[in-house]
Amino acid sequence: RRRTRTVHLQQMKQKGERFAMLTAYDQYSAEIFDEAGVPVLLVGDSAGNNVFGYETTLPLTLDEFIPLVRAVSGAAKYAMVVADMPFGTYGGSIQQGFDSAVRLMKEGRAHAVKLEGGAPMVPLVKALTDAGIPVMAHIGFTPQSEHNLGGYRVQGRGEAAAKMIADGRALQDAGAFSIVMEMVPAPVAAEVTKALRIPTIGIGAGVDCDGQVLVWQDFAGLRGGKAPRFVKRYADLRGELLRAAQEYKQDVESGTFPAAEHSFAE
Ligand code: KIV
Ligand code: NA
Repeated sequence: RRRTRTVHLQQMKQKGERFAMLTAYDQYSAEIFDEAGVPVLLVGDSAGNNVFGYETTLPLTLDEFIPLVRAVSGAAKYAMVVADMPFGTYGGSIQQGFDSAVRLMKEGRAHAVKLEGGAPMVPLVKALTDAGIPVMAHIGFTPQSEHNLGGYRVQGRGEAAAKMIADGRALQDAGAFSIVMEMVPAPVAAEVTKALRIPTIGIGAGVDCDGQVLVWQDFAGLRGGKAPRFVKRYADLRGELLRAAQEYKQDVESGTFPAAEHSFAE
């Protein structure tokens, strides 16, 4: 197996091969998904929600995020590791975005960065690409802008569809190597996918994207509560861990654990 690179994803698109992406924020998740053959791991700023327990992705800082990126890139032997640019670490100026991306690449050892936004991100995408930093774009519902977008809402319906295609084209022309589309009507995502040379990666964007992405605690059923419509649960890790913790607690309280086999003789 070889390390997945941006060129491989574009080749897969040309051949009509779909690919999977999962988030990862630590060593073991990265190691397991890498072993499973998932070609792209996203260290998402959803770490704000799924690691640190914040209500949104907005509070996440580079200083708390970079160690997670480093853990994933250290554990993934074959996957391409993409690191999100956290809210407020880009978009102020090209220099600010460049400095943040360089920290993710240098200290986090990411292979690429991801940032949210359409046409307004074109100058930054171009600057980063020119500097040797591959950029994954992210359009549709962009969680860092949830206060502007009025919460979690499908984007690109009706007249907004044309803007989505234009944004995709502009980001592609600026040098982005792929584009995440989040919560976009399936027919619109299909149209964007068809219009672009670079691969699209959907989350709540239908089956016609070139790739799909899910947050790992969602797909593995670690997070409780009602999952969003676009999530499919492939395991019940929460139930399994809960059962294990309850059993362990009982064993300790009853003196069943540790047994002789877990103890050292004199
Ligand atoms: O942060 C994240 O997990 C993401 C994916 C949902 C695309 O941006
Ligand atoms: Na994100």
